[in-house]
Amino acid sequence: MSLFSTRFRDAVTNGTALVQAPGAEDTVMTFARSVAAGLSDDPKWLHCRFLYDAEGSRLFERITEQPEYYPTRTEAAILQAHADEIRALTGPVAIVELGSGYSVKTEHLLGAYAGDGKDVLYVPVDVSASALREANRSIASNFPAVRFTGITGPYPSAFPVLRQLSPQLVVFLGSTIGNFNPGEMTAFFSALSGHMPAHDFFLLGADLVKDPTVLEAAYNDAAGITARFTKNYFVRLNRELGAELDLDAIEHVAVWNPEWERMEIYAHFHRAQEIYIEPLDESYQIAAGERILIEISRKFRLPMLRAELAKHGFRSRRSFSDEKGWFALLLLERLDDRLMRRAPYPTTKR
Ligand code: AVJ
Repeated sequence: MSLFSTRFRDAVTNGTALVQAPGAEDTVMTFARSVAAGLSDDPKWLHCRFLYDAEGSRLFERITEQPEYYPTRTEAAILQAHADEIRALTGPVAIVELGSGYSVKTEHLLGAYAGDGKDVLYVPVDVSASALREANRSIASNFPAVRFTGITGPYPSAFPVLRQLSPQLVVFLGSTIGNFNPGEMTAFFSALSGHMPAHDFFLLGADLVKDPTVLEAAYNDAAGITARFTKNYFVRLNRELGAELDLDAIEHVAVWNPEWERMEIYAHFHRAQEIYIEPLDESYQIAAGERILIEISRKFRLPMLRAELAKHGFRSRRSFSDEKGWFALLLLERLDDRLMRRAPYPTTKR
């Protein structure tokens, strides 16, 4: 057992609310190197993980409340409608949530699992310690039967402790999976599957391909919260890396890419700017009219998504959607490795 696995097991036993994974804190140097890598590339990009500092997490929470941003409320309604059914399918399990944020939607699920005062262990994982603390406060007052041990860190930091949490339901909501490009998604499913014992469950929220007008509206809310979310990246660059950027030169642009079936979120520069990275003492030139890709949000088609999951040993047990078919929740079961070898692609058969 690794040091962290042991520390985590003790935390669960003692009811410790927050455990910090090794390497949880992004150091200034990690941030600086990531930014330098993205700005050296052509076309330029910035890694979306750094959108979620304390202010970014707060702004994202406000995005989810905007009338145009349908994913959160659609997914919450599906969760609410089917929580009891999901509970019946999995039986009693520990709930591990990757990228939990403030855990608002998850409370529907926790309600079903802790409904009759039964003990349930909830292990949320998030890079934002402030969001986890807030989630703990809310859950403690709404669901006293829930035992809460959160992990601060990126998702993979939770993988080594999954084995000790079986039987479990690993939850990955909000279509956060849409942030990954195909290679990153494959790596993620493969790593998760590799750490999950057979017959454990995986609940995945996935936003589906739909009318581009609806999609573009969702990422360009009238109140301008998404635009502030984009700008906050550069506020952080100025604060943490001494970038000395003029924020007024930047505009938020979100467009549908039909070929890749994804939303693309850019910082568009209408004036030339220099981005200085103090810790590396390097500067990058941004031309007037240039845009930097800061986030992608892929939209899915269920047959393709199920086939991809099947490659990693996840068999689809049930899928739930809303009446418009805008969003899907997939309940999957981690297959036995023996079954996998016999039928590596179970869902492509039918
Ligand atoms: C948190 C990645 C699911 O892609 O819809 C929303 C992020 N960015 N509006 C999404 C986001 C701008 C969101 N995810």
